[in-house]
Amino acid sequence: MTDFVDTERIPHRTLYTGSEMPGIGFGTFGSDASSGEEVALSVSGAMRAGYRYIDCAACYGNEHLIGEVIRNNVNADILREELFVLSKLWNDKHKPSDVAAACRKTLMDLKLEYLDCYLVHWPFPNYHPPGCGADIRNPDSRPYIHEEFMDTWRAMERLVNEGLVRHIGTSNVTIPKLRLILRDAGIKPAVNQMELHPCFQQGELYQFCVDHEIQPIGYSPIGSPKRPERDRTPDDIADIEHPVIIEIAKRHDIHPALICLKWASQRGQIPIPFSTKKENYIANLRCVTEDPLTIDEMENIKSVERNCRLIKGQVFLWSGAKSWLDLWDIDGTIPGWTGYTRDGGYAHEQNNDGSNTPRQ
Ligand SMILES: NC(=O)c1ccc[n+]([C@@H]2O[C@H](COP(=O)([O-])OP(=O)(O)OC[C@H]3O[C@@H](n4cnc5c(N)ncnc54)[C@H](OP(=O)(O)O)[C@@H]3O)[C@@H](O)[C@H]2O)c1
Repeated sequence: MTDFVDTERIPHRTLYTGSEMPGIGFGTFGSDASSGEEVALSVSGAMRAGYRYIDCAACYGNEHLIGEVIRNNVNADILREELFVLSKLWNDKHKPSDVAAACRKTLMDLKLEYLDCYLVHWPFPNYHPPGCGADIRNPDSRPYIHEEFMDTWRAMERLVNEGLVRHIGTSNVTIPKLRLILRDAGIKPAVNQMELHPCFQQGELYQFCVDHEIQPIGYSPIGSPKRPERDRTPDDIADIEHPVIIEIAKRHDIHPALICLKWASQRGQIPIPFSTKKENYIANLRCVTEDPLTIDEMENIKSVERNCRLIKGQVFLWSGAKSWLDLWDIDGTIPGWTGYTRDGGYAHEQNNDGSNTPRQ
């Protein structure tokens, strides 16, 4: 076993722009478990192992360290053009006047001239401090307000026009929100980052993205086994302990985590596993280049679906919201929106003062 996976064998996905991106990426969110230095060290090893897509975010607090790693690793062996570096705009930077400055800060930290992709991390401008508990609420939090989101989106579009960013995308959105964004966007999202693992397959949203040529990127692809306590509830199911996943893993003689990644890659989403262990991140990359799951195994994994969302997003809730389910438009409507209008969009309830009415 070498420490390097042949990059020619790593699957690639073509975005609607015609650009290609690697079919697997390296996550960089260390949660509470790994320091920025540990994450940066792993990114360095991952780049040398053959990872070319690095999934960053301003709120992970480690872009300045990852930037050092990128600078040290981009040389004659790894060209900048081979890399796909993605970052995300954090919730407290949604004001259109803040977007360009946030992007430039990320570029400065990552020591890059441009980003391959920039996402709006969450569709809510609801700030909460890093590492806070699930019961923390910001009294200024509001539900999704489409007009405001589009103001942010237009600032994202300007980054593309200015050449700071090659693609823009969404994250943690739903079908109702995506419909509106697609209706009103000048530049449509190239990717949508969403939680995806065998126990949470999000079939409808996944298909919606595919149908609209938006590449799905799957976060927490192994089921985030080391996520912080604040992101755990008693009903959560561990993908790598599911009997179907374990049985398939035994047949292939590999760790169940690798079955989750093979499934993700063969289904068509781009998994972005995180690991600090060299043997794990190399195995994660290699597994999508060899020994594929059979059609029957892929079919069997469909039965593992448990609608088990792990990252529920409670900290984004606004006063008047009932539960975290309100963040995810599960009945097909956005809280505060009244229904479809004639042109296929949604009408929005407005108060007399023009503000939006959250569902009570
Ligand atoms: N857009 C968003 O809102 C959002 C939300 C969450 C995450 N993300 C992104 O998605 C990335 C991945 O998500 P995640 O870190 O939550 O979950 P994950 O990748 O599903 O799980 C990571 C954990 O799995 C373990 N692991 C990795 N490979 C393994 C293997 N081969 N065998 C056994 N264990 C293995 C790792 O432990 P070891 O270190 O011990 O290997 C690590 O703690 C993040 O880093 C971030 O970039 C985005």
